[in-house]
Amino acid sequence: MESQLFTFKFSKDSSKAEPLKQEPVELVMSAGSFNEIRNIIYQYSGIYYTENKKYLLEDRLNKIIYEKNLLSYDEYIRILKTPKYRDEVNELLEAITINETYFFRSEEQFNTFEKIIVPEIIGLKSQKGDEPYLRIWSAGTSTGEEAYTIAIIIQEKLQQKYPNLKFQVLASDINNNALNTAKKGIYKDYAVKGLPAEIVNKYFKKTDNYFILNDEIKQMVKFTNVNLYDYNAIKTIKNVDVIFCVNVLIFFDIPSKQKVLKYLHEILNKGGYLMIGNSESLHNITNEFKLLHFPKAMAYKKE
Ligand SMILES: C[S@@+](CC[C@H](N)C(=O)[O-])C[C@H]1O[C@@H](n2cnc3c(N)ncnc32)[C@H](O)[C@@H]1O
Repeated sequence: MESQLFTFKFSKDSSKAEPLKQEPVELVMSAGSFNEIRNIIYQYSGIYYTENKKYLLEDRLNKIIYEKNLLSYDEYIRILKTPKYRDEVNELLEAITINETYFFRSEEQFNTFEKIIVPEIIGLKSQKGDEPYLRIWSAGTSTGEEAYTIAIIIQEKLQQKYPNLKFQVLASDINNNALNTAKKGIYKDYAVKGLPAEIVNKYFKKTDNYFILNDEIKQMVKFTNVNLYDYNAIKTIKNVDVIFCVNVLIFFDIPSKQKVLKYLHEILNKGGYLMIGNSESLHNITNEFKLLHFPKAMAYKKE
């Protein structure tokens, strides 16, 4: 697939085509190209690049254009618009997502989840005589740290407290590279910087440069590619009790946030919770969730 995108040259003495590798050139993304690429990204993912982030897009896409040996942004845009090169759009999305994450990123949020939200949902389920299971979804999990944090909390605290309860942790992202890293469960020290030493010692094997997560925790999480902007993909996930969609919608504009939140609301169980980032808010975006302020964190409930 990729080789079809190379510009080929023929050497003088041989009829064999060789990919023509250009010198890395600093291509300048015109306002028109920026607009076209931004629209493609938006159309497929809901991620909206504002003008002040153009430099970021340019930086990431220059690398792609160079690696593919393309000559211009116009050539790249033509490929992105060709339906048979849909994989190129996926690759574009993988190149432009921001994947920053680490274990226990928001301690207060995870404490609220463990100490308030889970007990409340379990209480509700037992009152109603529902099946004794709890489904948690880390949507936009990036390289898995959020999902594995949830798994560690289950292993450390919740499973002992609720021995008869079955916990399911789903984790998804649009970025397959990030998901592949997640499945490996091998991290650098940046990822574990927020973890207490005893948790690191208990759940990771330390090598010179890496922290390798133990298999027991890895097996608790099921990873899958879900584009939150794609209703058909979201529909495959059902009956979720808690959704962590943290620091994901910050990259979306208001209409695309509204679209995704509608989907998330639909698959969340009644009485379930949506967790978003500390710097995010659903104010003026949707009224479908009830905002609850807990002592050190906030969360959105589906009533
Ligand atoms: C900054 S990371 C957040 C990771 C983690 N939730 C946290 O807060 O630490 C944002 C993630 O959202 C993912 N993402 C962005 N748009 C998406 C979409 N339309 N569907 C699914 N995932 C998306 C990105 O690939 C990226 O991994």
